[in-house]
Amino acid sequence: MELNTIESHGIGAAAERSAGTDRTAKKVFVKTYGCQMNVYDSQRMTDALAADGYVATDAVEDADLVLLNTCHIREKAAEKVYSELGRIRDMKTERAEAGRELLIGVAGCVAQAEGAEIIRRAPAVDLVIGPQTYHRLPDVLARVRGGEKIVETEYAIEDKFEHLPQPKHAELARRGVTAFLTVQEGCDKFCTFCVVPYTRGSEVSRPVAQIVAEAERLAEAGVREVTLLGQNVNAWHGVGENGEEWGLGRLLFRLAEIPGLARLRYTTSHPRDMDDELIAAHRDLPALMPYLHLPVQSGSDRILKAMNRRHTARDYLALIERIRAARPDIAMSGDFIVGFPGETDEDFEATLKLVREVGYASAFTFKYSPRPGTPGAEMDGHLSETVKDERLQRLQALINDQQQNFIASVVGRTISTLIEKPGRRPGQILGRSPWLNPVIVDDKAGGIGDIIDVRITKTGPNSLFAELV
Ligand code: SAH
Ligand code: SF4
Ligand code: F3S
Repeated sequence: MELNTIESHGIGAAAERSAGTDRTAKKVFVKTYGCQMNVYDSQRMTDALAADGYVATDAVEDADLVLLNTCHIREKAAEKVYSELGRIRDMKTERAEAGRELLIGVAGCVAQAEGAEIIRRAPAVDLVIGPQTYHRLPDVLARVRGGEKIVETEYAIEDKFEHLPQPKHAELARRGVTAFLTVQEGCDKFCTFCVVPYTRGSEVSRPVAQIVAEAERLAEAGVREVTLLGQNVNAWHGVGENGEEWGLGRLLFRLAEIPGLARLRYTTSHPRDMDDELIAAHRDLPALMPYLHLPVQSGSDRILKAMNRRHTARDYLALIERIRAARPDIAMSGDFIVGFPGETDEDFEATLKLVREVGYASAFTFKYSPRPGTPGAEMDGHLSETVKDERLQRLQALINDQQQNFIASVVGRTISTLIEKPGRRPGQILGRSPWLNPVIVDDKAGGIGDIIDVRITKTGPNSLFAELV
């Protein structure tokens, strides 16, 4: 699953349809950058705005409010926001000349990290709102309409999730048969390259009752597959229904009891938080998909130490051995950073060696990007772009090979597929393999939401072609 390059437009196409019945409704265009949690948050912000009379639109030219839900993880991600703001500012000027208002809001991790600085750099922005205060969005907007510019980045004392309105059943049903559900937010790990502990704050786990209620609502609306989200999702530890503290493994066993929920996933995990109960869930829960995203970042112990990952390459390999013993068909995915300060050729070779030992079904590779305020940015031994580029290419080539090997190994096998939507070509439908590959099947094979067994006949670059068995 792609982690950091999601860029999706317009959260609510159906909301737009319902706008047909109310042409006077205010319209919001939400653009989402960054990780899955931002995708989830954009939906929750849209829900909060729907309760405030806003209808979502896919067409930026129709919007009365443009909301950018931003990502701060690498420099490129953060800079994209400012170029987008330039374009929207021009739209706002044209609008003002025509006598119609356009409000501009910045949410997400850049909002949290840069706060008022955003309005200094881009004065057309009307509001800046951090991830912990989305439930206050309607109040903030009311003040903005009264002529104020608002920067809301304090951490709220009240529980955001308790105050965010739930979407209507029909809206949930429209969003499809797979859904994200944030169970944990924030991070206490402080890897030396990473901004997340500063943009999302310290770890907070939602209680079991809240999560179960949300998962039940999703299931009732026809959702078959739920992906639990957290910056450190396997560090989740919530108050259980019995008042005891539960871990993620126990939560997964509970969620698997919900009628209709056939598939469970969770992301993103830290190797230090894979406990025995979670590994047992992989062994005992057929609903838990045999695919695990477990970032390691580097294969060099020296670099892992400088990154403050607090485990060695051996620890990681031993952990994967235990997971594979519990669930032999599990496919692994990971994240890697090349060119961390001080990384030598030898360190980089250790990363390649680790990748060869693990054998990934997919993985994400990033060039180290120094982030303001992180310890890594202050370290000695920053590397040139040329070295980073060269290492990135070598690592990517290796991972691409592994990905192709993995896909090729599926040909001829019978696998379960969740049908998600119509295919691009007439007569085809699109499903999802247990390992997240798109699966293309004849549309007579089943309807949306069905989980069917199919035999893989051939492969595309990342997709699988299949026939019903
Ligand atoms: N919480 C997750 C990942 C969060 S960010 C974890 O702990 O694994 C997603 C990925 O972005 C990270 O795994 C890392 O590979 C990458 N990343 C984070 N900060 C980065 C930086 N400064 N430069 C390059 N890549 C970075
Ligand atoms: Fe960032 Fe490390 Fe926390 Fe992941 S565990 S969010 S990489 S600080
Ligand atoms: Fe980006 Fe924030 Fe997610 S920095 S990766 S949007 S947690």
